Amino acid sequence: MNEQPAEVVLRAEGVTAGYGGAPIIEDVSLAVHAKKITAIVGPNGAGKSTLLKALSGVLKASGGEVYVQGKKTTNLAPEKLVRRGLGYVPQVSNVFPDLTVRENLEMGAYTRRRGIGARIEELGELFPDLRAAMRRRAGMLSGGQRSMLAMARALMLEPAVMLLDEPSAGLSPLLQGALWEQIEKIAATGVGICVVEQNTRRTLRHAHWGYILVLGRNRLDGPAQELLHDENVVELYVGRMN
Ligand SMILES: Nc1ncnc2c1ncn2[C@@H]1O[C@H](COP(=O)(O)OP(=O)(O)OP(=O)(O)O)[C@@H](O)[C@H]1O
Ligand SMILES: [Mg+2]
Repeated sequence: MNEQPAEVVLRAEGVTAGYGGAPIIEDVSLAVHAKKITAIVGPNGAGKSTLLKALSGVLKASGGEVYVQGKKTTNLAPEKLVRRGLGYVPQVSNVFPDLTVRENLEMGAYTRRRGIGARIEELGELFPDLRAAMRRRAGMLSGGQRSMLAMARALMLEPAVMLLDEPSAGLSPLLQGALWEQIEKIAATGVGICVVEQNTRRTLRHAHWGYILVLGRNRLDGPAQELLHDENVVELYVGRMN
């Protein structure tokens, strides 16, 4: 293969963060490439959401550095990080249930002055399910549609990298399949995706690179397809590979 290496859109180097007591994540490093899906998997309570919060400025890192598109962004406020090209879809409360789909998308464009209508059109092509539901209240959507809306909202500002915290949680296997297809389509448009999931096997199947986080630390990383068959990974997840 003589493919050009894809641009690193997000890099974390030795990030440590927590909630005031002992650190929850410690010395975590990772890289996310444009057009690729990078997965962070690990058991319940491993610190996956905490890591995404530290990368997106929601939580202050007490150590380490974060770079978005090559520029240092460590501990910038979330709204500044958004302007640097980082989109973040949190694990919960990621849409406004009382607003319509279209209004949610408009809210996602809060720092954008022009081209809001055109961007909504584009996203409607990428998410046909949403296009048909523009005037419905987000609270009336199915779980799958709501997950799509949360991603589309983050895409309104055309981020270089998007962090997704358990986008498939609570979805049926069929809907999870549809969601992954959608995530692959988003990556193909050029966005680097960093996705956190508990569903290890399915996630690694769709990812390019995987990081296994255990007790707040990098435990193992490598090409996702190799991790799927790695004895150590299987052992870490005995009884929980799903
Ligand atoms: N707001 C908070 N204040 C204090 N401790 C917290 C807070 N949020 C999470 N924690 C603690 O941090 C640790 C890691 O939690 P985190 O939510 O990052 O894990 P996770 O890997 O995302 O888990 P899950 O797979 O269940 O979503 C847990 O011990 C949790 O109790
Ligand atoms: Mg979590």
